Amino acid sequence: MVIGTGYGGSVAALRLAEAGVDVHMVEMGMAWDTPGPDGKIFANTTTPDARSYWLRTRTKQPLSNFLGFPLDKDVPRHTGILDAEEFGGITVYQGRGVGGGSLVNGGMAVTPRRENFAAVLPTVDAGEMYGTYYPRANAGLGAATVDPEWFETADCYQYARVGRRHARRSGFPFVFVPDVYDWDYMKREQAGTATRSALAGEILYGNNHGKKSLQQTYLARAKATGRVTITPLHRVTSVAPAAGGGYTVTMDRLSTSGDTVATKELTADKVFFAAGSVGTSKLLVKLRANGALSRLDGEVGAGWGDNGNVMCGRANHLWDPTGALQSAIPTAGIDNWAQGGAFAEVAPLPTGIETYASFYLSITKNPHRARFTWNAAAGRAELNWRTAWKQPSIDAAKTIFDKINAKEGTIYRTDLFGAYKIWGDHLTYHPLGGAVLGRATDNYGRLKGYTGLYVIDGALIPGNTSVNPFVTITALAERNIEKIIDTDL
Ligand code: FDA
Repeated sequence: MVIGTGYGGSVAALRLAEAGVDVHMVEMGMAWDTPGPDGKIFANTTTPDARSYWLRTRTKQPLSNFLGFPLDKDVPRHTGILDAEEFGGITVYQGRGVGGGSLVNGGMAVTPRRENFAAVLPTVDAGEMYGTYYPRANAGLGAATVDPEWFETADCYQYARVGRRHARRSGFPFVFVPDVYDWDYMKREQAGTATRSALAGEILYGNNHGKKSLQQTYLARAKATGRVTITPLHRVTSVAPAAGGGYTVTMDRLSTSGDTVATKELTADKVFFAAGSVGTSKLLVKLRANGALSRLDGEVGAGWGDNGNVMCGRANHLWDPTGALQSAIPTAGIDNWAQGGAFAEVAPLPTGIETYASFYLSITKNPHRARFTWNAAAGRAELNWRTAWKQPSIDAAKTIFDKINAKEGTIYRTDLFGAYKIWGDHLTYHPLGGAVLGRATDNYGRLKGYTGLYVIDGALIPGNTSVNPFVTITALAERNIEKIIDTDL
């Protein structure tokens, strides 16, 4: 059984099925295979509706304000696609549904620089990763880089060209990064010969056309084996050793308004936790505390980080417009990791109007790590992250943007995250850790204390990948599942 259908879960399902194993995937979110009343499966970023948020009655948009005015609005409570999960000091955004984060993310498929890898996964052989598993992951995900010639003239990447000009004038390297979007489709969107998708602002609440989410890649191949069953709208609540061997997995069947309509128990020989860094950590700390899996290691719950995410915008001069038409798919970044500890994605602001704003999501070298614990009285997992821990991220991002502002004679936008607030320091898109490789598990994701229980998602990665994380999550899953199939089956 595989709990969760994101990157780690999809790799596990495909490779196990190819090895002849029957796999049952359980996913708390919806299947996202049926169009809504507007004929589309996914809602647009600019017009959130019931499909957009996981069990909220009001949107919680990462970019909450514009010109200081709040953007959030009421929506019907529904098992929507984006979860803005709130912990004490941070809101953690995650995808919900068959495909996990691949449903909502920007598709930026970035392999870390090899010189940074030892800090990302210190116990893993870098030679194997860069020789075998990163290439395998990138091929499986369908990652490709924008056609550089087309990029130079496409209206929808004017914002990225402005970002490049400003980066270079301040002496920063500007790098194209691969994405899983179908670039030929995007060219046709720009040419007006295909239905607009990235160019219609479809990203945060799903993408109806060009993006190759896991549903189009790993999961499609997994289903084609005939050995993989996916059960959506079921949330796993417990895993415990079964009397006759294997594990009893308990799950709630959810209605689309989030109510539990039934509870089921199934038995599985082996269980893979692939519920994402937060989902896996929450489950494991609960199961250790309530005695269902009491032998789990004390490291379970520890080593959680936000990949150093921090957002900001810059106000450009009137002669530097970023374009009313912006592709929602980012394609480049400013790499100041070695000097300043920041890699800044040049991000779109697809509002449909000219904003004269440059927008960035920075990934920074933030040393802080938090821990998940189980609060039995409240019946929930808690995370001890503090908002003040974002200061090193802000400092790192400033090594890029203070310099650019000084060079360009520009200022930070103060209207995007509240009134007079420069930094989006309240959130992360990249939760990592909580069941760290080599600490809560062995060096291949086998949970310490139990045979036949594995972690195979972002929970294995100790808090930071130096770039956007899903390629590393996928490559590590490819490495671990190969070993597990060879030795444990
Ligand atoms: P993932 O979160 O993908 O999957 C876990 C699945 O388990 C989910 O579908 C969840 O619903 C399910 N689940 C959880 N608990 C469960 C339970 N108890 N029972 C059953 N199911 C359960 N990364 C990147 O590399 N490039 C990018 O451009 C971006 N952009 C980006 C934008 C936004 C808005 C977000 C939110 C995230 C990104 N990311 C990203 C991050 C990336 O999407 C993320 O790192 C991966 O999806 C994590 O993969 P996992 O396999 O760890 O879990």
